Formats: sequence, C-alpha cells, structure tokens
Amino acid sequence: MGIKLRPLASGQQLMANSNEYVIIMNKKKKKIKEKKEEPKAIKSKEHIVVAHSPKKDEKKEPEIDKDLDHLLGAHCVLKSKIIIGKNLKGRAYICSRMTRDEVLKTSQDYLDIICCKTLTKKIKQEVIQKTIENIHNYFNRGYLDYRKSVTEAEDFAAIEWEGQGSIIKDIMGRKYIDFLGGYGIYNMGIRHPKIVKAVEMQLRRMPLNSQELLEPLRGALAQLLGELAPGDLQQCFFINNGTDAVEGAMKLARLYTGKSGFISTVRGFHGKSMGSLSLMGKAEYRQPFEPLLSNIHFVPFGDADELEQELTKLQAVGAGIAAFVVEPVQGEAGAVVPPDDYFPRVREICDKYGILLIVDEVQTGMGRTGKTFAIEHWNVVPDIMCLGKSLGGGVMPLSAFMSSRRIWKKLEQNPFVHSTTFGGNALACAAGIAAINVMLEEKLAEQATRKGQFLLNELAKIQKKYKKLMLDVHGKGLLIGMDFVTNNIGYEVAAGLFKRGILVAGTMISAQTIRVEPALNIPDKYLKVFLDKLEETLKQIDKEGVHGKHTE
Ligand SMILES: Cc1ncc(COP(=O)(O)O)c(C=O)c1O
Repeated sequence: MGIKLRPLASGQQLMANSNEYVIIMNKKKKKIKEKKEEPKAIKSKEHIVVAHSPKKDEKKEPEIDKDLDHLLGAHCVLKSKIIIGKNLKGRAYICSRMTRDEVLKTSQDYLDIICCKTLTKKIKQEVIQKTIENIHNYFNRGYLDYRKSVTEAEDFAAIEWEGQGSIIKDIMGRKYIDFLGGYGIYNMGIRHPKIVKAVEMQLRRMPLNSQELLEPLRGALAQLLGELAPGDLQQCFFINNGTDAVEGAMKLARLYTGKSGFISTVRGFHGKSMGSLSLMGKAEYRQPFEPLLSNIHFVPFGDADELEQELTKLQAVGAGIAAFVVEPVQGEAGAVVPPDDYFPRVREICDKYGILLIVDEVQTGMGRTGKTFAIEHWNVVPDIMCLGKSLGGGVMPLSAFMSSRRIWKKLEQNPFVHSTTFGGNALACAAGIAAINVMLEEKLAEQATRKGQFLLNELAKIQKKYKKLMLDVHGKGLLIGMDFVTNNIGYEVAAGLFKRGILVAGTMISAQTIRVEPALNIPDKYLKVFLDKLEETLKQIDKEGVHGKHTE
C-alpha cells in the first residue's frame, strides 16, 4: 500500500490519511508535531518522518517512499529507515540544504575515508548506509532497483571497495570472484601491477594533456595499435568511451562516403549517445528518444542474405548508405556468435554495394574472444574499427576508432572537425600501452581460447542436466552467454551465484541471458569453483523453485 500524498508546492505540505502519519521533528529530532491531517509548511532543517501504522496482519514494511520521494521536492533527502515505537514504522527525511561549510566538511570526511588505510567497522557500516542514501537521494536513483542481488546481500549491501586480479572485495571484506569483468573492461584483471605502475609513473609527470604540445604517449599507443590492427587499419583517434568511438566512426564514414545512412543489426549495441543510439537494435533504449538519426535501417544479425536484400531495396529507392555497423560477436545481446561464413560474405556485400564496414570491437577486442580483435577469426579487414573497454587495461577509460590512410585522408584536410579534450590523455595512453604489453606477454587471447573452450564444454554438460532451467550456452573465447528459460530464473541464478561469492550479470535490463566475461588471465582454479557454484545454485532452484518475482 502506498501513502496518499498530493504534490508538494513550495511550502511542502504532506497530507496524511487515516493510518498514515506525518511527524515533524526539529533539528534536534524533538517531535514538534504529530498530525493526521495536513501539517503546515515544513521549514528547512526540520526532519520529516513519514510514518505508517501497519494493520495487524501486515508483516511487511510498506513501500512508502516510492510514492513519497517524488513529492517531497528538492533537498528533502532520505536519512534512514526508522521504527517509531511498536506500531509505527517509517522513513525519516530531512528537509535541508547543506551550507558551503557543511559541503566542505563532508568532502573532507570522504577524503579521510579515501585516504584511510583501515576503516573501523562503524565507519564501514556508515559508508554502506551513506552509499545507499546518496545514490537514492542524489545519483541516478532508479539504479538501486537494478542492483537487487547486491543491495539484498546478507546483512549489509555489497559496496565495492577493492579488487585485485579476479577478486573483488566489498567494504566488509567479503570476497567475490569476478566472472563479469565489468562487461569487458577487465580483460587483464583488476589492477594489473604493470598497468597500475605505468599509470602511477605517468601521474607523477603529467596527468592530462597541455592541449598544445605534442603528446609522446598518444603517438606511442597509436603506433602499437596501428601495428596490431588488421590489414591496412593504421590511423587512429583516441577518446574515452565506447560510444565516443562509434560516434567518431560514424562521422568518418559520412565524411568519406558523402552519404548519410547506416545499417545496423537487430539487438546490436553500440552505445547511448544520440548517434550511436540511432544504431541501437533494442526498442527499449531507443524509443524514448525518437526521432533519432534518420536513414538508419536494421537487419537481423548473422544473416548475410538479409543484409544484401536490404541493400538492394535501399539502392532501388536511392537511400544513400555510408556503412554497415556491426559487432563481431553481439555482446549486450548475450554473446551471440554469427555463422562462420557471415563476415566474409558481409565484406563482399559491402564492397559490392560500395558501403563501408564498421566493426565495433568495443567489447570483443583486446583478446576477449580468442584473437586480439574478434574479426580476425574470419580473416576479414573492416574499413573502420572501434575499440574501448579493455583498451585502457581496466585502469583508465580509453577508446579509439581506427581506419586506413585512404579513408583517413578525409580527416586530414581539417583534423579539428573531430576533436576532444580528454581523449588520448597521458594517463589513459600509459594504461593502453601497458594493456597491449600485458595482452601480448601473457598471451591473453590464447588463454581466452583455452579457458573459453573448457567453460563452454562444461557448461554444455550442466545445461543438459538442467534443461528445465537453462536453454542454451554459447560464445567465443571468454565471451559466453547462458540462456535461461525465463528472466526470473536468470535473476535467481545471478543472485544465487552472488550469495556464493561469484559475480555475474545479465544484460543491462534482463537476466534471461547471463554473460560470463572473466579476466582472460583468471586462474584455472576459479573456473572450477564457478562451475561448482553454478551447479549448486541450479540444483537449489530446481528443488525449491523460483522465489522472487522479477521484471520479465
Ligand atoms: C559493442 C559495444 N559498443 C559500444 C559500447 C558502448 O560503450 P560505452 O558504454 O563505453 O560508451 C558497448 C558497451 O557495452 C559495447 O558493448
């Protein structure tokens, strides 16, 4: 049952109904009013406690703040859940805005925590409480609902605190084996010593760029990438996020071809800024922002005939297409691998119709699928390639788009038609150079092939055993997807693994497919632990059924 309130005007008036109370307290938490009817305007610094007297048979605490929060207005922030007496439960809000001095003091408190080597249990608990409150009050609040397995963990919500290799520790010291790899940012593991050292050393010299002098590390990283990239891809540009790489690739393709249109794939994912979002193959992300770029078309992933048919139609109606944009293995769609003849045919078709092939390796690059770049599995050279995530070695944000000299020539006339302040900064490039070094030295692509094959074989056996729950297992290298019969089952598996100390996740808003993307250098012993815990979890779900109801 939700509390009945009417929107608060500037005076912030709450209305309490028959079994809901509004208790207003002053700064010292002394009760100054307890009302069943409308209170007068609430003054700054007063505490507002919205209480609820549960009915006799009502065991669960009512979800009151969902309705209430939107109505309280700015700077009315949730402090904590409270219990007022035996029959009154509620949530306390404080109606206040910090003074500059209070903001200064609070920032110092946080700095003390950042700089403190060992925190007391009390401080740890305060950090947990504060994190939930702060995200709820100030951050992208709906986000808490999507982190259920984390916020519902045992006694305290799991607040990430430190990581090393494949182990993440929360603030209470609970350990999790990382099988999510930050959706592809930790190919080299967390805090790889060589990458951390490079960044720390660079930090002592120069963190960001002057914006005027020439940057040695940009050049160095560009050289390494140019030497590694497939075929004639040799020129590059650095930015920070995957979406930035896709935006740059789209602009370059338009500049080179003089055409405006793009073809993308159903369920494809390329980022969420307006250009890359226009390529988004999932309705739920794009619909709220329509109209996006025009002249964008979609074909099913993995079907070259469909691409050709679409291009034939578009040619007939004169829709100028600049490029086909595609992931080598669809990541956010749940590790979907195309048939082996797909990319060689795609390459032929793009050439035949005179359009560019843009391959988005943001998630698949840097060894993830068993090759440095996944497109190399099919010996295909794209016209433009996008990189991100693990390019920064799991230490710095870094992304890039690359192309051939022939195509890049269009950018030479005025290199500032595309520029950025932070892209290719010294710290990020130091991390990128070290990431390439680690990837090659530790033969991460080869490790991904071996470990991926082992996991796929073992997971197929588990799937056969639990067919009622698990539909399929697929992937390439260490980009693996496990499909469950329902979203609820997937969620229960993720939550069950989490309880058993293993971190995995579904796609962003669905748990029906769970992605397995550990660090490529994950110790073999953890693969065994993962398989054991997964079986344990499935066994329990098989026996007890699905408990919660989660969004389908
Ligand atoms: C293939 C692909 N392209 C682009 C992006 C967007 O990257 P970012 O979130 O860094 O903008 C992602 C993110 O998951 C991705 O998987």
